[in-house]
Amino acid sequence: MFQDKGYEVEVSDFDGVLPREQLLQKVKGADAILSLLTDKMDKEVFEAAGPQLKIVANYAVGYDNFALVDFKEKGIVGTNTPDVLTETVAEHTFALMLAIAHRIVESDKFLRAGKYHGWAPMMLLGSDLAKKTLGILGLGRIGSRVAHHAVKGFEMNILYYDVKPNPDFEKETGAKFASKEEVLKNSDFISIHLPLLDSTRHFISETEFNMMKSTAYLINTSRGPIIDEVVLVKALQEKKIKGAALDVFEKEPELSPGLSELDNVIITPHTASATEETRAKMSEVAAKNIIEVLEGRIPSNLIKI
Ligand code: GLV
Ligand code: GLV
Repeated sequence: MFQDKGYEVEVSDFDGVLPREQLLQKVKGADAILSLLTDKMDKEVFEAAGPQLKIVANYAVGYDNFALVDFKEKGIVGTNTPDVLTETVAEHTFALMLAIAHRIVESDKFLRAGKYHGWAPMMLLGSDLAKKTLGILGLGRIGSRVAHHAVKGFEMNILYYDVKPNPDFEKETGAKFASKEEVLKNSDFISIHLPLLDSTRHFISETEFNMMKSTAYLINTSRGPIIDEVVLVKALQEKKIKGAALDVFEKEPELSPGLSELDNVIITPHTASATEETRAKMSEVAAKNIIEVLEGRIPSNLIKI
């Protein structure tokens, strides 16, 4: 517990995901909770905190850990941390895309295993990004930033799927609005930037893998359950697609059986926004949202429910 600007702050020093029992203990008497994306925020937590609880500020842009009906029922304000992490996640998406296409991780392992016996023309051939088609599923802040880098940096063609078209963006980048099916059928790279909702759970499953090119790469820096991971493992084993690069998993921190044994997949542990600059900004934004609410103002990043 420490005091800052008149607020008493208690920070959990638990290493990892705080067990539910401890979370319910710790929130007792709190006016505000700064939650992580692994903390389910629902009625049980609000009741454990008490009737003085006003706000839950998520330390993430995604807020699928929020039971919004319970927020509404209890009159609790919810906030997230958009904008400050857009560039970082877009960069990580590109890091994954380049790494899978140029077989960076596989090549590194190959070399360290002592398998490099001399330069050879056909050794570890990858694929280019330049002038290929990138399919974006979800053209929000992060999706449009990824598309921007793809067009400006790699002269890629963009197909995008979203609930509605964005004519300004199309004018600026030459991107084309398309159906989900068209995006899946025609893209060389497919990058997911959707929020996790009932309507996007298993958005990519068997039917969708069957539509993709056998040379396609799938990138996911959004939320794991958007891809049916068991079906993904099978698709990668059967080489239905060329590869996948993932920052998020269906049952984090567990990986579906077989996933980590595959060479045509790159996996990072939900670290797409993990740069020193961005994590510092996320903390500041979450804390500011709390202060705004406790001072009786509308928070900058209010989640509309
Ligand atoms: C991270 O996954 C976030 O939603 O900020
Ligand atoms: C490769 O190293 C080249 O010089 O072409």
